[in-house]
Amino acid sequence: MVRSAEMKDLERVAEIERLSFPNPWTPYYLENALKDFFLVYDDGEVQGYLAATCRDQDEKATILKVAVHPEARGRGIASKLVRGALDAFERRGIKHVELDVKIISAGAVHLYEKFGFRIQRMVTIDVDDTSFLVMKKEI
Ligand SMILES: CC(C)(COP(=O)(O)OP(=O)(O)OC[C@H]1O[C@@H](n2cnc3c(N)ncnc32)[C@H](O)[C@@H]1OP(=O)(O)O)[C@@H](O)C(=O)NCCC(=O)NCCS
Repeated sequence: MVRSAEMKDLERVAEIERLSFPNPWTPYYLENALKDFFLVYDDGEVQGYLAATCRDQDEKATILKVAVHPEARGRGIASKLVRGALDAFERRGIKHVELDVKIISAGAVHLYEKFGFRIQRMVTIDVDDTSFLVMKKEI
């Protein structure tokens, strides 16, 4: 099931983070993110998570990242997390949802397209030449 993250999830979330990203968020950064909008998928053990920021005053949310433990991928867990986040945003009166997707993550683009997100623009960060796709959805 999809539920809100709690502090006790931090260690497992940090493990999935390390296994999922070349430049993982530090446990300190994750601890702070956990206090914001943070969902986990728990089937007895946390298998994935979705981090976002929610700005109620301008009805806007940004999905920061979604990750699933490598051994649990391909079973629809990320899809359940995105669905759960969109439902929660809608309940909070959020109208605009944005996200940045590292361009190399083709699977992630497909995941978000499935939920009606559309590519807005590509952003290249000169420092390390990383490209991001900015995707957006109105709900
Ligand atoms: C991207 C990620 C979150 C997907 O998690 P998942 O639980 O395996 O995703 P789902 O099973 O819900 O699949 C969602 C869709 O994306 C597709 N997909 C997932 N990974 C894919 C990949 N590597 N290549 C192509 N398509 C992929 C699936 O086929 C599925 O589409 P479908 O429902 O039409 O078949 C997971 O691979 C991951 O943690 N990757 C590392 C971190 C990352 O890149 N996060 C995204 C950017 S923040």
